[in-house]
Amino acid sequence: MNILIQDLKVWQVREAAEIVREIWGNEPAEKVIDEMNEMFGKSKFPPHYFVALDDLQIVGFTGLRTCLIFPDTYECIWINVKPEYQGRGIGRLLNEARLNKIKELGGNVTWVMTKNLKFFGSFGFLSIREYDDGWHLMELKTGEVKFTN
Ligand SMILES: CC(C)(COP(=O)(O)OP(=O)(O)OC[C@H]1O[C@@H](n2cnc3c(N)ncnc32)[C@H](O)[C@@H]1OP(=O)(O)O)[C@@H](O)C(=O)NCCC(=O)NCCS
Repeated sequence: MNILIQDLKVWQVREAAEIVREIWGNEPAEKVIDEMNEMFGKSKFPPHYFVALDDLQIVGFTGLRTCLIFPDTYECIWINVKPEYQGRGIGRLLNEARLNKIKELGGNVTWVMTKNLKFFGSFGFLSIREYDDGWHLMELKTGEVKFTN
C-alpha cells in the first residue's frame, strides 16, 4: 500500500462521494457532491478537500473551510476512510494534511463536530461541549483569535 495525499480534483468528486454513500447513506452522499464542488466554484471562501489515493483509487477524503463567524477560525468538514482501509493510518495522514493547510492559511482555532474523541484528541483537540448521542464539539487552539476583521 502506497498512500498519496493530494488536493481533490474536480473529476474525483463523484468517486469520493461514494465513500460517503458507503458509510453514511444516500442523502449525505448527494449533499457532499455539492459541498465538494464549491471548491471549484466562484466562492471567495471555498472549502478545501484532500483525497487519499492508493494507486489510482480514492480510499479516503477530508475537508476544511473558513468559519465565517470569526477571523482565523476554521471548521473541519468530513473525514472518511473506506471501511476496508480503516485502521491503517490513512485517517491520520488526511487529518495531518488538513491541519497543516489550516496552519498555512493562518488558522488559530479549529472546530470539529465528532463522536470520535480519541481520534481528534490525539491531535490535541479538546471537547468544549457534549451534545446528545455522543456528539462533541471539539476545539484545537494553536494561537490567539484576533477580535477584528
Ligand atoms: C475516523 C476515521 C477517519 C479514522 O481513519 P483511520 O484511517 O481508520 O484511522 P487511522 O488508522 O489513521 O488511526 C488514527 C488513530 O485514531 C484511532 N482511531 C481511528 N478510528 C477510531 C475509532 N473509530 N475509535 C477510536 N479510535 C480510533 C486509531 O487507534 C489511531 O490511533 P494511533 O495513531 O494512536 O494508533 C475512519 O475510521 C472513518 O472513516 N470512520 C468512519 C467515518 C467517521 O467516523 N468519520 C469521523 C466523523 S467526524
